[in-house]
Amino acid sequence: MTIRKAVLPVAGLGTRFLPATKAQPKEMLPVVDKPLVQYAAEEVAASGLPMVIFVTGRGKNAIEDHFDVSFELEHQLAGRGKEALREQMRSIAGMLEMSYVRQKEALGLGHAILTARDLVGDEPFAVLLSDDIVDSEEPCIRQMINVYERYGSSVVAIQKVERSAISSYGIIRATPVADKLCPGRLYKVEDMVEKPAPEVAPSNLAIIGRYILTPGIFRELAATGRGAGGEIQLTDALKRLLAHESIYGYVFEGKRYDAGDKLGFLQATVELALKRDDLGKPFRKYLKSLKL
Ligand code: G1P
Repeated sequence: MTIRKAVLPVAGLGTRFLPATKAQPKEMLPVVDKPLVQYAAEEVAASGLPMVIFVTGRGKNAIEDHFDVSFELEHQLAGRGKEALREQMRSIAGMLEMSYVRQKEALGLGHAILTARDLVGDEPFAVLLSDDIVDSEEPCIRQMINVYERYGSSVVAIQKVERSAISSYGIIRATPVADKLCPGRLYKVEDMVEKPAPEVAPSNLAIIGRYILTPGIFRELAATGRGAGGEIQLTDALKRLLAHESIYGYVFEGKRYDAGDKLGFLQATVELALKRDDLGKPFRKYLKSLKL
């Protein structure tokens, strides 16, 4: 079955970025000049998926406005001869077919995905966490769809992390799979655990915020109780799914920035600004001038 829909959970409170997120969604924080959530939406569109489902919540209206048409803004830009910018603003609204569903309680990532059940229906789908920006030639979620299309199973994006970072992630136990099309990148998941202490972690292979999920995950999510942090964890539901279906871990090609963390956010800002045609040169010159 082809993947048509991507779920973007955007209901999180963003406590790590307070006070910036006191009155605005963390997903609207800009890296250079684009909100985090737009990077994720663009990755969905660039991967050829036509539909996105935002799981939103209180105080997140700015996200809906961002992906809507702003007639006033477009009118003003057109009147000032800023046609290119007007086109760019319109394309944000036209990029994908968008639906919204509200997660009424902050019960975690698993609960957020379960909230999208009716909108997803009985088909495999993608999940992107907009905290993670992946800069790659082929969009990360597209790379994972390619794996899904060959194996027909759920796929989680993984990366090796430092021991000190292990307790911030879902961690998998897995065995390598020999695959000619992505040598060294594919693993078969055997077990997984959400945010373990490093001493008990099964490996240093961490799940990052990209998933391809089969619809069987909804049945497991509905049966999953509260786990780490008192929240309904997607990792716990995936572990349950393992009893019925295979799950693969895929070491994606590209560089991932954890923009949900202050240092990661700064790294993303600096590196993505350096790559920009309009900013790269003067910004590099400025950075070099700093006596560090
Ligand atoms: C979530 C998941 C975790 C995963 C991480 C990736 O955690 O629960 O398994 O490793 O995203 O970024 P969060 O970062 O929302 O606490």
